[in-house]
Amino acid sequence: MHNRALPVLLTAGLLAIVGCASTCPCQDSPDVKEGPVTVRTSPFGNLADGTAITRYTLRNSHGMTARIITYGATLTELLVPDRDGKPGDVVLGFDDLGGYLDRSPYFGATVGRVANRIAKGRFQLDGVEYRLATNNGPNFLHGGLKGFDKVVWQARAVESPDSAAVRFSYVSRDGEEGFPGTVMVNVIYTLTNDNVLRLDYSATTDRATPVNLSNHTYWNLRGEGDILGHVLWMDADRYTPVDDTLIPTGQMAPVKGTPMDFTTATAVGAHIQDVPGKPVGYDHNFVLKSGGGKLALALRLTEPGTGRQMEMWTTEPGIQFYTGNFLDGTVTGKRGVVYPFHGAIVLEAQHFPDSVNQPAFPSIVLAPGGTYTQTTLYRFTAK
Ligand code: GLA
Repeated sequence: MHNRALPVLLTAGLLAIVGCASTCPCQDSPDVKEGPVTVRTSPFGNLADGTAITRYTLRNSHGMTARIITYGATLTELLVPDRDGKPGDVVLGFDDLGGYLDRSPYFGATVGRVANRIAKGRFQLDGVEYRLATNNGPNFLHGGLKGFDKVVWQARAVESPDSAAVRFSYVSRDGEEGFPGTVMVNVIYTLTNDNVLRLDYSATTDRATPVNLSNHTYWNLRGEGDILGHVLWMDADRYTPVDDTLIPTGQMAPVKGTPMDFTTATAVGAHIQDVPGKPVGYDHNFVLKSGGGKLALALRLTEPGTGRQMEMWTTEPGIQFYTGNFLDGTVTGKRGVVYPFHGAIVLEAQHFPDSVNQPAFPSIVLAPGGTYTQTTLYRFTAK
C-alpha cells in the first residue's frame, strides 16, 4: 500500500464505521496482504442480538472475486470473466443480510451437520433412536431448524503466496438439532490465481454422529434468466431414485435411457420435462463413478452464450443436482433481480441422501478420533 493512500483509506474506514446501518454492506478494508490474490473484510450487518456479521472478499488478478460472509459461511457473490474477459456474478444471493435471515432457500450456504434429507427425521446409532426436526414435509432437511447455514462462524484470513483463503470454524454442541456429540467443523474457502475456488472441509467429534457437509450455491453462469440452456456433463452413470418425498428408495439405477443421462454433454433443459415428479425439474443425487475418497472431476457445466465453463472436482461420492424447482418468482435477490423458476443450478457435493438409514450407501458416521474431510473445487474458464 502506498503511504499517500492511507488518509483516504482511514477516511473511508471511518465513514464505513459511522455510516453503516444494520444491513448495509460497507467499504472493504485494506488488503490483508499485497500479492496477486488479496483478502479484505467489511461489515455485513448485525443479527437482532447485535452480533456483527463480516464479509470477506477474495480477489485475484485474473478477474475473479469471491465474497463470503460469516453467517452460514455463505458464498454471496462470485465474479467470473466471460469469453470477453467481462466479469459477471454467477451465484444467486442477496445484497444485504436481511435477505439471508428472512427468505434464503440456502443460497450459497454451508449446509450441515447433515446436508440433504433424513427420512421422517429419525435414525438409530449404537442402539439409540434420535429424533430430529421434520422441516421438509415428513422429513428432515439440511441440518434442521437451525443448521450450519443459519449460525455465525468464526473466521480468519489465511495467507499463502499465490492464493487467498478464509478459514471458517464452528462448534456444534452435543444435542444441537437433536444430534449426539460436539462437532468441531472448519471450511476453508481458497481463491487461487488460476481461477479456482476451492472448499476444504474438516470435522471431528467427541461421540459417534452423522456428518455430511455440503455447499448450496445456486449457479447461473449466464448471470440471469433460466438455466435450461446450460450444458452439463457429469461423470455419473447411476443415480439414486426417490419416493415422492425425495427419499431414496435404496436403489442405484442406471442413468442410461433416462432423463438423468448426462454422460455426454447435454442441455439441462433437453429432457427436463420428462423427469418424474412435481414441480418439474431435477432434484436427484447422482452416484459419481469415482466412488469418492479421492479428488476427481465430477462434472463440467458450460453456458454457450457467455462461454463460461465450470469444472467441479470433489472427493465426495455423490452430487445432488437441483434445478431451482422451488424458485417461483417470489424471491427478489441481488440488484433487485427476481429469480425465476429454473433460475439456477445447485450442485451439492455430498454423501447420498438419507445415508444414515440406508445400509447400502457409504456411511456418514464420524467416530471420535476420526476426521471428516472433503475437498470440492470449482475451476472456471471461458471460451
Ligand atoms: C436441496 C433439496 C431441494 C430443495 C433445496 C432447497 O437441493 O434437494 O429439494 O429443498 O435444497 O430449496
